[in-house]
Amino acid sequence: MERAVLDKFIVHGGNRLVGEVSVSGAKNAAVAIIPAAVLCDEVCRIENIPQITDVADMLHILQEMGAKIRRINRSTIEIDPRPIQTYVAPYELVRRMRASSYLMGVLLGRFHRAVVAMPGGCYFGVRPIDQHLKGFSALGATYNLEGGMVDISAEKLQGNSIYLDVVSVGSTVNIMLAAVKAEGTTIIENAAREPHIVDLANFLNSMGADIRGAGTDEIKIRGCSYLHGTSYSIIPDQIEAGTYMVAAAATGGDVLIKNVIPKHLEAITAKLEEVGASVEEYDDSVRVSRTGGLNKCTVKTMAHPGFPTDMHPQMAVLLSIASGTSIINESVWDNRFQYVDELRRLGAQISVDGRLAVIEGVDHLTAAPVKATDLRAGVAMLIAGLCARGTTQVEEIQYIERGYEDIVEKLRSLGADIERVSVTEVPSVPKVI
Ligand code: EPU
Repeated sequence: MERAVLDKFIVHGGNRLVGEVSVSGAKNAAVAIIPAAVLCDEVCRIENIPQITDVADMLHILQEMGAKIRRINRSTIEIDPRPIQTYVAPYELVRRMRASSYLMGVLLGRFHRAVVAMPGGCYFGVRPIDQHLKGFSALGATYNLEGGMVDISAEKLQGNSIYLDVVSVGSTVNIMLAAVKAEGTTIIENAAREPHIVDLANFLNSMGADIRGAGTDEIKIRGCSYLHGTSYSIIPDQIEAGTYMVAAAATGGDVLIKNVIPKHLEAITAKLEEVGASVEEYDDSVRVSRTGGLNKCTVKTMAHPGFPTDMHPQMAVLLSIASGTSIINESVWDNRFQYVDELRRLGAQISVDGRLAVIEGVDHLTAAPVKATDLRAGVAMLIAGLCARGTTQVEEIQYIERGYEDIVEKLRSLGADIERVSVTEVPSVPKVI
């Protein structure tokens, strides 16, 4: 009989997080840089790759397409993309992750054709790709959407000016990936400025590309025909760092978060200081501690350098135990509030109106069984469990493992009482009378 494995995290709340933790390579940079290696005409070595399931899935996709992947050590791999002979990405694997949309840009760049399933990923309302397609069209491509697949082709890719109607990470990345192999110069206006956009540009430039302005809202890409091999190290994960910062503040702890770029954390640091935590910045680490109470605040999520939407659910947990009424205004995604029902199970008082969450701080949270509804919502439940009185079970942890390397080990090293248990459930069989 088939058995479903329902792994869970069990968290015994109440321990302050104290000690040091090292942040892994950035998920959202890795899932752009790994497919970008397909554009290389030689072998690429990529270091500081996080061991998370989104990365494993992306490597699996490239392997299925024919790339030779050699693991050098836990966080370093070499990719030889030369054996890839297909412009069709494997349907089932691609459907599982949002970043697989980047295969559109790289396959279009390399083969002038890409057949890729409509991407999956965490669901926070509609996740359109109209801006990606607008960019490809401006470069001279045409496309068809049929049977859940996008088929994009171009006889020739020609650089052009593209103004994005919304500031979008995915479309900025995808247009860069195709434009790097176009003839002439492409200008992306109203481009996203996230640290992983800069990291991708640096990676492509290290292979001989000519990309300027990444990190500003205007990126210029001068196309080139040959990209040579490179050795490149991915930046630290801004959101993983922010997650440990919030966890330290929420538990009244004292944590040195190492291997970070403090500049990337400024918006998070500002909000943590506003609610009463202390944040000390060093060259490549930050120390977050809290001894006093937590104050309310207002948070509006925005594209970088604003407060990151991917820190919204974690911040909601912190504000749930802050005194007074806090507000979170989610301005990036239509519906990032699926976690609210789960957080209410732990005693949080939150109401949602459109894109606003109004949080009345409570004295404490109380443990309950909850589930991860997406990656950041899931890690927010872990932070809530660390603060709550009693034992919290977090289910659907596959979401959390998409983006956090060694999360149990890292939290335990800080004194958290957390374990990962494998639960095997036998589905109930209807009685035949
Ligand atoms: N949008 C459009 N049209 C498009 C593309 C986007 O209208 O063609 C809209 C979206 O609906 C959304 C906004 O633009 O309202 C921003 O979307 P964006 O394209 O920036 O998001 P994404 O590229 O799909 C990445 C991250 C997300 C993160 C967002 C915003 C990756 C793999 N994913 O998604 O990260 O929330 O940017 O910063 O980089 C996560 O790591 O947990 C995660 C979900």
